[in-house]
Amino acid sequence: MPSSSRDGARSKSTGRADGGSARHRADSPTASSCRRYPEKTQPPYLYPPYKATLRRAPRKPLIVVPHTLSEVTGPVFGHGQISETDNDLTRQHAGEPLGERITVSGQVLDDSGRPVPNTLIEIWQCNAAGRYAHRIDQHPAPLDPNFTGAGRTLTDSQGRYRFTTIKPGPYPWNNHPNAWRPAHIHFSLFGTAFVSRLVTQMYFPGDPLFPFDPILNSIPDEKARRRLISAFDMDLTKPDWSLGFRFDIVLRGPRETPFENKK
Ligand SMILES: [Fe+2]
Repeated sequence: MPSSSRDGARSKSTGRADGGSARHRADSPTASSCRRYPEKTQPPYLYPPYKATLRRAPRKPLIVVPHTLSEVTGPVFGHGQISETDNDLTRQHAGEPLGERITVSGQVLDDSGRPVPNTLIEIWQCNAAGRYAHRIDQHPAPLDPNFTGAGRTLTDSQGRYRFTTIKPGPYPWNNHPNAWRPAHIHFSLFGTAFVSRLVTQMYFPGDPLFPFDPILNSIPDEKARRRLISAFDMDLTKPDWSLGFRFDIVLRGPRETPFENKK
C-alpha cells in the first residue's frame, strides 16, 4: 500500500489525507525574512527509494503564488475547541486500548530556542498492532475498538505539549518487497494561519527498522535524521502507568526539525 494512504490518516482540522504541504517557504513573499534551513537537513521532493515521491515530486520548476489575505491570516485556536480527552488517546472510548501506554511530551521552539506558545499540535498514528483506523488500511492486523489514533492539543506558555497514547506498532507497506515502517507518530503543527503548517514524524529510539526505512533515510544529514527520534525520558515516565518519550520540535535554524514536503 502506498505511503500516501497508509500514512495518511486524516487530521481533525483539515481532513487532508496527504499530511499537507502548506508550509511557509523561505522564499515565499510572506517569509522573506526567514532563514533558510541548513543544507541536507530536509528530505528532497524526489527520493526514488521512497516510491511515492516518484508520483508526487514536481517535474517542473515551482511557481511562487503570492498569498492572499485569507491565507496569511487565520483562525485563533481557542482552548474551548479542544476537549479534555483530545490529548489522551487512551480515554476517547468506553474502554482502554491495548498496548504499551506512553507519554509523549516536548517543547516547540523557534530558531533562537524561544518557546512557541499556543501552537495547535495534531497527531495521528496506528494502533499497537500496526493498523490505522482508516478504511484504506486493510492489512491483516486487528483493529482496536478503543483506539482511534488521533489527538490534538495546544502548546502552553512555555511551548510545551503532552500526549498520552499507545505505542504504535510497525506496519508493512508496499513501497518495496518486505517493507516495514518503523514505529512512528505523525505530527502536524499550525502557525497562526492555515498556510503555516508543518508536518513530520516522530520515531522511537533503538528501532531496528531505521536502516531500512526510505522515508527516514530520505533526509541526507544523519544529525537531522536523529532529530526525528524521540528520547526515552525517565522524568516523563509515570510510575505504574506509562513510559515517557521526549520530542522537541524546532521550527527553524541549525537545529531545525526535518519536515515533510518541503523544498
Ligand atoms: Fe504512518
